[in-house]
Amino acid sequence: MNKQKIVIAIDGHSSCGKSTVAKDLAKALSIAYVDTGAMYRSVTLYALRHNLISNNQVDEAALIAALPHIKITFAFNAEQKKNETFLNGESVEAEIRQMEVSSHVSLVSTIGAVRKQLVEWQRDMGKEGSLVMDGRDIGTVVFPNADLKIFMTASDEVRAQRRYEELRQKGQAADFAEILHNVRERDRIDSTRAESPLRQADDALLLDNSNLSMQEQFDWIMTQLRNKKLID
Ligand code: DC
Repeated sequence: MNKQKIVIAIDGHSSCGKSTVAKDLAKALSIAYVDTGAMYRSVTLYALRHNLISNNQVDEAALIAALPHIKITFAFNAEQKKNETFLNGESVEAEIRQMEVSSHVSLVSTIGAVRKQLVEWQRDMGKEGSLVMDGRDIGTVVFPNADLKIFMTASDEVRAQRRYEELRQKGQAADFAEILHNVRERDRIDSTRAESPLRQADDALLLDNSNLSMQEQFDWIMTQLRNKKLID
């Protein structure tokens, strides 16, 4: 369907459905999908497991020293029909989505040396072929020359509600007020951090999906790809 190597960068606020639409796009276009949030989450899980975080303080020197021992990979689980994230060969897909990781990941992602390393790994993935990558700094830092940049958002209440329902569906404990607080807190840290703060790239298209269905949102992005002659 697509004629050339294409890089699609999807950035935006937390829990606004970036990864869901990115996965759908990757599938429809038969290209790779990279969830960079899962990479920051995996580093956070590593730090938690090795007691490198206490009282909301990260032992930065120890975490930076540990980076060469961290290997993050992705694979498609054919049985469960979903992408899985591996930390040093172990599937951590479920664990990195839990509140313990969610509430510390913004802290870890403020560390410049961690970002530098992850950006390098992400650019390496981009050398391999077409992909859709989602995160916070993909269009601004990782791939400033991406063929299509989307900046996604939705109101914070809508995002918290979706996250609440997702956790409930998975049978996990969920408290709406706590989730709303977590969503707002992550927005605040992501947008105000000194290192690569979350911001809309000048050439990114804004997509507010508060009132859009998944299908409408998907169709909107496909139209943008066609407008840019990236697909037929
Ligand atoms: O997309 P997510 O919610 O899984 O991301 C988890 C956290 O990782 C988010 O709070 C900010 C951080 N992150 C980042 O700083 N840069 C990225 N490219 C992706 C995620």
